[in-house]
Amino acid sequence: MDRRFEFVRTAASRIVIGGDVERRLPQLVRELQPAPDSTMVLHDEALGELAARVGRTLAAKVVLPIRGGEASKRLAVLGELASAVRAAGATRATALVAVGGGTTTDLVGMLASVLLRGVPLVLCPTTTLAICDAALGGKNGVDHDGRKNELGTIRQPDLIAADVGWLTGLPDDVYREGLVEVVKKAAVLDARHFARLEQLAVPLAARDPAALTEAIAMAVDMKMAVVLADEQDRANRRLLNFGHTIGHALESAAQGTLRHGTCVALGMLTECRAAGVDTAIAGRLAAVLRTLGLPLRVPAELAARAGELWALARADKKVVRGRVIACVPAALGTGTDLELTEGAFAAALRA
Ligand SMILES: NC(=O)c1ccc[n+]([C@@H]2O[C@H](COP(=O)([O-])OP(=O)(O)OC[C@H]3O[C@@H](n4cnc5c(N)ncnc54)[C@H](O)[C@@H]3O)[C@@H](O)[C@H]2O)c1
Ligand SMILES: [Zn+2]
Repeated sequence: MDRRFEFVRTAASRIVIGGDVERRLPQLVRELQPAPDSTMVLHDEALGELAARVGRTLAAKVVLPIRGGEASKRLAVLGELASAVRAAGATRATALVAVGGGTTTDLVGMLASVLLRGVPLVLCPTTTLAICDAALGGKNGVDHDGRKNELGTIRQPDLIAADVGWLTGLPDDVYREGLVEVVKKAAVLDARHFARLEQLAVPLAARDPAALTEAIAMAVDMKMAVVLADEQDRANRRLLNFGHTIGHALESAAQGTLRHGTCVALGMLTECRAAGVDTAIAGRLAAVLRTLGLPLRVPAELAARAGELWALARADKKVVRGRVIACVPAALGTGTDLELTEGAFAAALRA
């Protein structure tokens, strides 16, 4: 016989972000469909106090710290966490609750997607990057064989709940990281949001909670629109890659001395120059980034290594047949694909 069975995947994520979310967590978890019968909190070890509070609020069965930062994103740790939650009595009706930044949400997201073939997942992102990017869209994963996010799945969380109060203790550089991703999205997806970010840049830099909540809402709406149109990341999500082809090359070459958001900010500006984007557009982008406190020039030591950076950009997993395509704003709010050449790239780095 030869028959075809069409599966329609059903998944829904609820996203709740605001100033009173921590208190509302028990109700939000009860409202999940189906409601889990218990919860377990897995958290960044640096956030012990917050995780203990969340654990008490939810009457969680256990509160487990994850040690080691980005180095914890690997299969061995995934296995240890699986053993720990099973030893604590996790079943398919136990919701795993991740409390932490993108490192934690990526790792716990993957655990929830494979443990017992899938258990309910609640993400409580605590960094701007995680709230505005990493926790959204269902991608998770661990690093493997020296490559980032080599193993992972796409699995939408059942609930993303973040209290903006959790971000108060974030160091300034980590705080700025996530905002770069919001600027990036608006630059290629939404002109009105970009114009609004120009107005919000000063209060955002001053860490005004109302401005931050508004920027986060924009990030959620822009990213979820792209994800809904292309959940499996076949084409559309490429728009979200603005600044990342060159940004990732800078990040690798800098060997941990430059943060991701800084590299993406520099990557966006360099890609604009290399692709010949109108200087008025690039100028408005640079102005917002400057107000948010990001550097606008690639450090001289890195700019001098153009050949090496180009080779890294060509090795990016999104590069097809050796052609380096950057998605850049043709107009603010409208991304377009343009091919970069090595000559234009080297000149853009020096500019
Ligand atoms: N899945 C995706 O779509 C996606 C997208 C972008 C990034 N990522 C992943 O996200 C990770 C980076 O995320 P990140 O930047 O949030 O890093 P992170 O989780 O490592 O957090 C950054 C730092 O901030 C600290 N921290 C976290 N919350 C805090 C708080 N509330 N107060 C004070 N300190 C706090 C952490 O301990 C850590 O030192 C990477 O592994 C990256 O691959 C995933
Ligand atoms: Zn990024």
